[in-house]
Parts: sequence; structure tokens; C-alpha cells
Amino acid sequence: MAGLDRAKAFCNQFGMRLPVLQAPMAGSSPVDLAAAVADAGGMGARGALMDTANEVIQWVDRFRARSNGPLQLNVWVPEQPRTNTAEDLQRLADARTFLGGFGPFGEASAMSLPSFEEQCEALLLVRPAVVSSIMGLFEPTYVRRLHDSGIAWFACATTLDEAVAAQEAGADAIVAQSMEAGGHRGTFAQDDAERIEIGMLALIPWFADHLRVPIIAAGGIGDGRGLAAALTLGASAVQVGTALLRCPETGTPADWVARLDGLAPEATMTTRAYTGRLARAAATAYLQAWGEPIAPRPASFPDQLRLVTQSRRGSSDVDALNHWAGQGAALATDKPAGEVITKMWRDAAALIR
Ligand SMILES: Cc1cc2nc3c(=O)[nH]c(=O)nc-3n(C[C@H](O)[C@H](O)[C@H](O)COP(=O)(O)O)c2cc1C
Repeated sequence: MAGLDRAKAFCNQFGMRLPVLQAPMAGSSPVDLAAAVADAGGMGARGALMDTANEVIQWVDRFRARSNGPLQLNVWVPEQPRTNTAEDLQRLADARTFLGGFGPFGEASAMSLPSFEEQCEALLLVRPAVVSSIMGLFEPTYVRRLHDSGIAWFACATTLDEAVAAQEAGADAIVAQSMEAGGHRGTFAQDDAERIEIGMLALIPWFADHLRVPIIAAGGIGDGRGLAAALTLGASAVQVGTALLRCPETGTPADWVARLDGLAPEATMTTRAYTGRLARAAATAYLQAWGEPIAPRPASFPDQLRLVTQSRRGSSDVDALNHWAGQGAALATDKPAGEVITKMWRDAAALIR
């Protein structure tokens, strides 16, 4: 099937008018952005990582008061809990010492992640068009319950093994996340993430040749050229994150917005310094310090996130803040989100025809 036909079939299936999904960005997916994208014919989203069950319900109520458009709600699949080894504790201590070099620590962080099981129940209750997972798969019973409620499951994958496992487990579409992507990498096995560096040009045809479910390309797409390329390579739609970070509806802090303006691809880097999981962000001096050979390996997720949160409470260093950014950051504009995705689709369609 040709790219435009695939896009059309995908849009018809999920109630969209154009094949662009807002990325579910934890911390950067307010109702205003999701409603703007959904109203323009795309799919709005919420990255619900930090939301309790009640917060999920309230957020969706607010979204529905604003838009009738399709919605994706996203959670991070937690790793199996394990007890810290002596090596883990040493890593934590080393990371703490290194962070201390940037300034005094604030009060101990009470940060805790909401219950994943309760989040999952809330997602079923509010019945969005799509529930999506990153960094792992849902249990078979939960997938059955999603499908029984008429909710589709989109699974993020960074390798074909992950994508096939998701497809066999019942995923209705695969979000193919390539290495250009801003924010966290969805690789299932946390320790493998650095090794999985696949660009979009290789990832999408590789998936398209082996999967039967639709593919949503994610990573570095910021305008009609990227959308046209993704559809041509075998995707049915794209998911964009960084390209929407400068939109007024996103409410991104001014220092982060300024950092994205004209940011070159090589001025981003992947790091574990903020959370313990690998993610792409603007390469600030702070991040570069964490990348130096003398720097310790950050602690694992979520210990590193807790440590960083506590260290921030004692510091006002803007450079130390996480300015997530994909390699296509310079393509992001400060236009309203509806305009951004409408133009993206118009330009892509003109290129493909
Ligand atoms: C600020 C930010 C936060 C993100 N948070 C999440 C998240 O919570 N869940 C998720 O599945 N993906 C998350 N992502 C990754 C996106 O889903 C997507 O893979 C990525 O944005 C695509 O690359 P791009 O940023 O170059 O468009 C995030 C991305 C960004 C930029």
C-alpha cells in the first residue's frame, strides 16, 4: 500500500483527519496542547507517568470539556522491582558526591512514582481511543481488558524484537522510536539503551518488512519533509514531540524554549544524568560534565531522578535543568500546535503526490 493510502486507512481507524499524533510527553502534555492537536485533526496525548489515578481522571475530564477529538494516554511500564546490590549502592553514593559538586543539596526528596496498577485501572475507566506503553509490554489480561473496552494499545519499540513481541502480545500499532527522538528512549531492557542507536531511515523499512500492524514513526520529525519521508518508508503516521515544545499551548518554560531555538542536532546528546534512564536532551555544560570520563555512571531509575530532584531543591542553576530535545529541535516553531501539524500534513501531501 502506498504511503498516503496507509495514512488514510490509519486516520479512518482512529478518528483522525491527518496522520500526526502528539507525543505523550510526561511533564509537557497539558490539556491545551492535546486539545489543539486533536481539534486540528491529529491525536492529542497525555504522558501520565507522574499522574495518580485521580489526576488521570481529572485531566481527561478537562480534555473532554475542550475537545471531542481522539486521545492517547501513556504510561511507562516499570521494571521488575529488585533489591539494590552493593554495586548499585556504590553508584548511588558516587552520583550523590558528583552532584554535590554542582551546589548544595536541598531537603530530601519525597518524590515517589504513582502506582502503575492504579494508573492502568484509571486508563481503562476513562476509555481514551488509545492507551500506549513505553519501555515494556502490558500483561495479557490487561491487553484483553483494553480491547474489551474498545481501547487500542500502541506500544513503543526501538528494535524489531521488541516490536514483534508487542505485536504478538496484541498491540494494535507500533510506535517505532528512532535514535533521533527527544526525551526518553523506549528500549525495554534498561541497560541496552546505549547500544540501540537506529536512525529512522533504517528503522521504519525494517519494521515495515516484518510487521503486520501499522507503524507510527517517532524521532526527529518536525515538518512536512519528515512526515513525507516516514510515510514513504512504510509508516502509517508520525508521532511528534520536540516539534511541539515551542508551541504556545505547551507552556514550556522560557529558558527551555530559548534553548531549542536553532539547536543543532549535534548540540543534543543522550544521557542518564537526569533520571537514570537514557534520554536525549540539549547538551548543556551540566550534561557534558556528566559525560566526562571522570564522571560516575548515574544511579539507576528512579534513584537518579530522586537524587537530581533533591539536588535541584538546593540550586537555582538553570543550566542543570533538563531541556529535553530531539535531533530535529531546530525545526520546532513558536506557531500554535494546530497550525504546525496542519502545515506538516499539507507540505507532506504535496511532496508525496
Ligand atoms: C519532553 C518529552 C517528554 C517525553 N515523554 C514521554 C513519555 O512520557 N512517554 C513516552 O512514551 N514518550 C515520551 N517522549 C518520547 C516521545 O513519545 C517520542 O518518542 C519523541 O518525542 C519523538 O521524537 P521527537 O521529540 O524528535 O519528535 C517524550 C519526548 C519529549 C521530547
